[in-house]
Amino acid sequence: MGLVGYRLSLDGVILRCSVCGAAYEPDPWLFFCPRCGGVFDVVLEEPRVTRGFRGRGVWRYSELIPVKTQPVTMNEGGTPLIPVPRLAEESGVGAELYVKYEGANPTGSFKDRGMTVAVSLARALGVRRAAAASTGNTAASAAAYTARAGIGLTLVLPAGKVAKGKLGQSILHGARILEVEGGFDEALSVVVESVKRYGYYPLNSFNAWRLEGQKTIAFEVYEEIGVPDYVIVPVGNGGNISAIWKGFKELLEAGLIDKLPRMIGVQAAGAAPLADAFLQGLDHPLFKDHPETRATAIRIGKPINWAKAMRAVRESGGVFVKVSDEEIMKAQRMLARLEGIGAEPAGAAGAAALARLAAQGLLEKGERAVIVVTGHALKDPEAMMEAPTETLHAGSVEEAVKLLGLH
Ligand code: F0G
Repeated sequence: MGLVGYRLSLDGVILRCSVCGAAYEPDPWLFFCPRCGGVFDVVLEEPRVTRGFRGRGVWRYSELIPVKTQPVTMNEGGTPLIPVPRLAEESGVGAELYVKYEGANPTGSFKDRGMTVAVSLARALGVRRAAAASTGNTAASAAAYTARAGIGLTLVLPAGKVAKGKLGQSILHGARILEVEGGFDEALSVVVESVKRYGYYPLNSFNAWRLEGQKTIAFEVYEEIGVPDYVIVPVGNGGNISAIWKGFKELLEAGLIDKLPRMIGVQAAGAAPLADAFLQGLDHPLFKDHPETRATAIRIGKPINWAKAMRAVRESGGVFVKVSDEEIMKAQRMLARLEGIGAEPAGAAGAAALARLAAQGLLEKGERAVIVVTGHALKDPEAMMEAPTETLHAGSVEEAVKLLGLH
């Protein structure tokens, strides 16, 4: 019970280790399996049969979200599903394509879906101080939601590696920032240690309750177009792809759907521990010490949710794909210039994989695919400015008018 007495119930679920399968009571302070150190899935003990969803956004699906408390919410979720026929044609893809535009969330990324659940839980637990490591979007989202909840937040960020928009949001919302030399993987290990030693409440995706909010991407897609043949997701830590897969499986268990999509995980070539393992037919990730990519949001070498993400792809009959930074930047421009959709580089990774997937015989005519665009273009202003453009300059009105006449 929190200081101001928010009710909380976590009934009807168990925590199951994603690595060894051991099951535990739903202790909200248990994040790692005491047996093997793996992260958990929150598993519903029985399929939930819904009486019909009500309201909008993430909490429209509250019957399927096991955290029962007063939510800390900004009406996150309910993002647009946008047909992208020009992108499909230009990428040589026969399938009907849609973009699920997660940039339309309150802080500009899909993280808000998870943060509303994790921060609601934290507030109900009476948490005073939370922490998160981040490549930037988790930071921005955690900063906004903890501000709303009146919870103190410390962000552990890889020094010099967070895009300007995200850093600005973290500062604006009043988080305390600890920059650490190294990458995201080092920053995350600092947070894990801070949870164990000092009792900070973690808002990273190893907190499985957060992923319970992110699974609502699946519910929204289902309500709008049914079950697509493919869902294409940029992968860093592997939390989001596993959350979306979990969402579809819960719809199946509830008897609302009778088939499942194939999950396509996309990684940047310089930060592809899961795609590399997949391409070599391995069951274990090939962790990477110095990941590097222009898509800084997914610059991750040791994804903490590796077991869940690999299972999502394997169980669904999907694939992992690697894309180069050039392909990512090109896809960002295609989304922007063919479809009007502004994505940050990592958010465009799914679109960057289209041509490669088509070359593998996937995304055929008669099929449907949803590309999850995970973050807004405004997150990374420098990346936007790298796009080729024609800027004219005139010293006077007269000269400006003359220049227009020449074009
Ligand atoms: N796309 C964007 C824009 C992201 O910010 C992230 C993750 C991902 C994709 C990958 O999602 O980790 O669930 O596989 N960003 C984290 C952060 C790591 O700190 O903001 P994932």
